Amino acid sequence: MLVLVKEDYDDMSKEAAKIVAALVRRKPDCVLGLATGSTPLGLYKELIRLHKEEGLDFSKVTTFNLDEYVGLPPEHDQSYHYFMWENLFKHINIDPSRVHIPHGMADDVEEHCRWYEERIKKAGGIDLQVLGIGANGHIAFNEPGSSLGSRTRIKTLTEKTRQDNARFFKSIDEVPKYAITMGIGTIMEARQLLLLASGKNKAHAIKITVEGPITAMVPATIVQMHPKATIIVDKEAAAELTGKYEG
Ligand code: GLP
Repeated sequence: MLVLVKEDYDDMSKEAAKIVAALVRRKPDCVLGLATGSTPLGLYKELIRLHKEEGLDFSKVTTFNLDEYVGLPPEHDQSYHYFMWENLFKHINIDPSRVHIPHGMADDVEEHCRWYEERIKKAGGIDLQVLGIGANGHIAFNEPGSSLGSRTRIKTLTEKTRQDNARFFKSIDEVPKYAITMGIGTIMEARQLLLLASGKNKAHAIKITVEGPITAMVPATIVQMHPKATIIVDKEAAAELTGKYEG
């Protein structure tokens, strides 16, 4: 596990973009696993810049998003569909037929989750999975206590996560109670993981994730078991780390 401590959010985002862009250049038909949340916004901004100014080509890239709220249609401005199109896809030359995001309005959620797993397999597996981290150590919507071998499924969101995400909604009552999320087992099958964290709100989660014991109570700790994981944090998110890490 490579841990990089960057000066600030901007440096973290640029370093992450370098890694993603290098993969897209090396393997133009790569499969990217993407995340939502405020953390990867800087990464997406930089990828858009690389596309516009340096011709980074996404036309053959396939993407799979980690998760989606249950009950929000794709056009809802807090759905992860909307987020991805607004913040990345509509600004790059991605082929819409290669974009995959779990469907929050699926009639048969279980069947949809099976289909999603199947699509990932058919695409040849995920080459690189981008991850944020919740303040309680969740990855995607795998909340504390999630099975470390779990697959794509529906999960109940914790009160903590609903409160953390309430800032994007008019009130906490509007925050969905359930989400479809890739499982921890699904995420761990990606050939490379890139976990990003910024700000002091994440310092404790990062301390446990990097230096704590592996436990389902902090799902992100499983990243320690991945053969090719990079964690990029800014100084604020690194504040509680005691080990020495590269800049
Ligand atoms: C949500 C998402 C996660 C994300 C987390 C942190 O719960 N499902 O994938 O990592 O929020 O979000 P932020 O980056 O806004 O702190």
